[in-house]
Amino acid sequence: MSIKQRHLVIGASGQIGGAIYGCALETNLETVGTWSTQPSKGLRKVDITDRGRLFKLVKEVSPHIIYATAAMPNVDRCESEPKESFRINVVGTANLVEAANRIGAIIVFISTDYLFDGIKGPYDEKDLPNPVNVYGYHKLLAEHHIATCSIDYLIVRTTVVYGWERVGKNFIMRLIHRLSQGQRLQVPCDQIGTPTYNRNLAKAILELVHRGERGVYNIVGSSSVDRYNFALTAARIFGLDGRLITPVTTEELDQKARRPLKAGLKIDKARHVLSTPLLSFEDGLQQMLNDEL
Ligand SMILES: NC(=O)c1ccc[n+]([C@@H]2O[C@H](COP(=O)([O-])OP(=O)(O)OC[C@H]3O[C@@H](n4cnc5c(N)ncnc54)[C@H](OP(=O)(O)O)[C@@H]3O)[C@@H](O)[C@H]2O)c1
Repeated sequence: MSIKQRHLVIGASGQIGGAIYGCALETNLETVGTWSTQPSKGLRKVDITDRGRLFKLVKEVSPHIIYATAAMPNVDRCESEPKESFRINVVGTANLVEAANRIGAIIVFISTDYLFDGIKGPYDEKDLPNPVNVYGYHKLLAEHHIATCSIDYLIVRTTVVYGWERVGKNFIMRLIHRLSQGQRLQVPCDQIGTPTYNRNLAKAILELVHRGERGVYNIVGSSSVDRYNFALTAARIFGLDGRLITPVTTEELDQKARRPLKAGLKIDKARHVLSTPLLSFEDGLQQMLNDEL
């Protein structure tokens, strides 16, 4: 990645886009970021479903790399509003691909382990997707579109991303908020994944871009854990009362969208090319404790 390259982070007001944007600025990369409904200082406004304005912004910024982090990532909302999910997660992504294609930019798309059914995770990049909910299906459609569009692309699959973020809606920020108010919390003990610290993810993504990597890469934390034990570890590290956390099964939680239970991703491919170490969930939580918002 040349220092002269321009980076455009679509969705920089969100958790992952915000982490990529922050990391790019810290590295002195020329970077523009966008918001859509959450006005954010220093960022430009754009809606990826508004083709005209999107194309205008992309042409004006003329980036070499576009990070497509904008999405409708609420899994249960996608299940109850599949048309809206399709409009944002599939059509919006296709608009971004077209915008990138018009100016010859590389697209970096953030995808998920929800492409898989969760029967025998963790999964590597070559495993066959088989989504069990609308969100996973739409992310797969978006991936397929990117991969068949003759565009330069990098697809980064990740999962259970946590860390400081402005809105505070990721699992660990919500957990810290509730436990510090003395509120009880039910957490599934049968959903296994590979939690990923957002700043570690951002650093690894920028390194992949810097190295000119293309294709599909899994970037996640280096250890598997179920949600309940992840929550207990977070409570311990942040000095909160883990007794407020009750383990339940996913069936008991009665979530709108089906969840892949034995999920998570393998990182052998990324480890071969990255010098950024991918952190275990314990080290990621410890790092989060040491980091500032
Ligand atoms: N978080 C995870 O654990 C996780 C795991 C795997 C994959 N992913 C993927 O990673 C990406 C980012 O996730 P996240 O957790 O960072 O989500 P997030 O915090 O909800 O951020 C989503 C971003 O997308 C923007 N956005 C939403 N609709 C838009 C639209 N129509 N036009 C333009 N921007 C729009 C939002 O802007 P405003 O807030 O300003 O509206 C926000 O900046 C998504 O593609 C998601 O599928 C996330």
